[in-house]
Amino acid sequence: MEFIREYADWFYLIGAVLFILTLRGLSGPKTAIQGNRYGMIAMAIAVITTFFVADHPVVWMIGGAMVLGAVVGIARARTVPMTQMPETVALMHSLVGLAAVLIAIAAILHNNQLTALFAENESALTAAGVQHAHMSSVHLFELFVGCFVGAITFTASVFAYGKLAAKKWAKTISGAWVKPVQALIFLAMLACGIYFFTTGNMNAFWAMTALALAFGWVWIAPVGGGDMPVVVSLLNSFSGWAAAGIGFTLENNMLIVAGSLVGSSGAILSYIMCKAMNRSIINVLFGGAMGGTAVAAADKGEQAQRNHRSGSADDAGFLMSNADSVVIVPGYGMAQGRAQNAVKELCEILKEQGVKVRFAIHPVAGRMPGHMNVLLAEADVAYEDILEMDEINSDFPATDVVLVIGANDVVNPAAKDDPTSPIYGMPILEAHKARTIMVIKRSMATGYAGLDNDLFYNEKTMMIFGDAKKVVEDMTKAINGGGH
Ligand code: TAP
Repeated sequence: MEFIREYADWFYLIGAVLFILTLRGLSGPKTAIQGNRYGMIAMAIAVITTFFVADHPVVWMIGGAMVLGAVVGIARARTVPMTQMPETVALMHSLVGLAAVLIAIAAILHNNQLTALFAENESALTAAGVQHAHMSSVHLFELFVGCFVGAITFTASVFAYGKLAAKKWAKTISGAWVKPVQALIFLAMLACGIYFFTTGNMNAFWAMTALALAFGWVWIAPVGGGDMPVVVSLLNSFSGWAAAGIGFTLENNMLIVAGSLVGSSGAILSYIMCKAMNRSIINVLFGGAMGGTAVAAADKGEQAQRNHRSGSADDAGFLMSNADSVVIVPGYGMAQGRAQNAVKELCEILKEQGVKVRFAIHPVAGRMPGHMNVLLAEADVAYEDILEMDEINSDFPATDVVLVIGANDVVNPAAKDDPTSPIYGMPILEAHKARTIMVIKRSMATGYAGLDNDLFYNEKTMMIFGDAKKVVEDMTKAINGGGH
């Protein structure tokens, strides 16, 4: 045990390097499992080292909390369906925020207790040469920041969880009063925090914490449901910064490094998601719900007068089995219709017919980062068949058939051609450049952005109406019955 104490910094360094390798591993599906393993080893090193470095650990309390956490974590991990992953992640972030608040409170109360004890026995202690080390202002500042970032993360994440899990209590708020109230609470929180920081007044500390908790809620409550994944990713980043702040308080290098890694990776992911949606982070966080529904309503009239061509699953199956190359573009509808296994089967049967089949993934297809990748991995689709937008876009003109399964916004050419479109500038999968386009969806309804899609009226496009899973299964049957 002395050994661990003596070499604690080395263990932390190994843990930090492993955390960096974890992030590196998680950046690609092939290396993700190994990345997870690195993460587990790093976390074990961090926990064990911290346990032995602590001065007087209350073993039963720490052990009890770890067992409880492990039981809840394992039970949840085993039962959570893939579709409930975003809200589970949001709930986990709320715990990181809460931990940061509780640690800040504990550190301040502990310091106050020491100060009181010292004051009671000042003469004896001074005679014995003992001096009370007051908390430095840097230390107070770390606590102040760690506590309010943690408190905002906590309530904002609880709200994000409620919203994503469609809980009744997580109601979106709107109205002209929202922004002034947000600003008022934020400024009051800062004022209390600064007062605490300069005077050490505990009432100001409690008021700051309460106001930060309230701010987390009113800040996130106006954000539309569809933007929640960006918010969850941003809260991920916040929870990391809160942890890093607390790492300074506890003088724990591991927590500072791990917190900073989480903080920066969450911030980068939020940026990537916003860029792929052609939104700014400020617009997501303070713009309220997207104006999509209004656009959809405005478009309806035009939509009714335009012609589209529709076909059957049999026609589509025949065309695809006679093609040289097929690119499948999955979107939210594949997730909604739970069609991934049927899609994998279709892919296999086409390959048996000698067709080159690949998948094209847009970074914001679906409703959460990596949504399509997760579903395709669940269905055991080979990683080498799954291509990112930048890798596949130049191949579309030479592709015989593009099969769009429940995707809409991510293949909307308006993002490239129509400067008046709200999604103008958003990078898209250029499915419209393929020789033939087939689109599976249930109706001519719009997608998340609420916009009509020219691709559906393109003369090269065949619409195949129906639920994604049923249509794909029918296509497979048709190919099985016919073929080359
Ligand atoms: P969407 O544009 O939302 O389109 C999905 C389409 O799937 C709909 O038009 C719908 O049409 C169809 N659909 C739904 N259920 C179906 C089913 N059971 N069977 C067949 N079709 C079905 O999806 P997308 O192309 O994947 O684009 C994602 C959108 O979400 C983007 O606007 C993106 O900005 C936004 N967003 C993404 C994220 C992340 S991180 N992925 C986060 C927030 C927002 P019907 O109703 O006619 O069937």
